[in-house]
Amino acid sequence: MEKDIEKVLVSEDEIASICDKIAQQINEDYKNSGRPLVLICILKGSIMFTSELMKRITLPLELDFMKVSSYGSGTSTTGVINIHLDIKRTDIADVDFIVIEDIIDSGRTLSHLIKYFTEKGASSVRTATLLDKPSRRTVDFKPDYFGKVIPDEFVVGFGLDYNEKYRNLPYVGILKREVYEK
Ligand code: PRP
Repeated sequence: MEKDIEKVLVSEDEIASICDKIAQQINEDYKNSGRPLVLICILKGSIMFTSELMKRITLPLELDFMKVSSYGSGTSTTGVINIHLDIKRTDIADVDFIVIEDIIDSGRTLSHLIKYFTEKGASSVRTATLLDKPSRRTVDFKPDYFGKVIPDEFVVGFGLDYNEKYRNLPYVGILKREVYEK
C-alpha cells in the first residue's frame, strides 16, 4: 500500500494530537449535561477516528452506528438520504448526540443527519470530523469539532478508502494519481 501513497497528509502523531484536542473539548462541553451522550459512528470511514476519539473521552457514553448514503446534486439540503443501517437506540429524546465522520465533502450527509435527529426530538446534535474539505461544499455546513482542513486531494487511510482499500493505513495520505487513473 505504501508505494501507492504520494505524500502523508496527516501523520499518526498529528492524528493523535487532533483526537486529544477534540476529546478535551467534548469532555469540557458535556461534563454538566446530565443527559446520555451517544456517539454515532458513520460507517465505514469513521471507525478509526471514532475509536481513537472515544478512548480519550472520560465521560460515560454510548456508541451507536449508522450506514448512510446521500445523493442528489446542487445545493438542496432537503434531498434524499438513504439509511442502510440506523442506530439501535430507540429512545432519542433527551439525548446528546455527536455524529462522527472521517471527512466532510459536500456537507450533505451531516446536514441530513442533523435534520433527521433533530426531527426525532434529540436534545442536541453536534458533529465531529477528522478532515474537512470546505472547498467541496455544496451546502452551507460547518462541523462543531474538526481536526484538519485539507485541500481537494484524493485522500485515503485511517478509515478512508479507494475501492474499499487503504482503510487500514494508520495515517491519511494522498493517493497517487496513477492508482485511480489507471
Ligand atoms: C464519505 C464520508 C462521509 C461522506 C461525506 O462516506 O465518510 O460519510 O462520504 O461526504 P458528503 O459531505 O459529500 O456527504 P462514503 O459514502 O465514501 O462511505 P464510506 O465511509 O463507507 O467509505
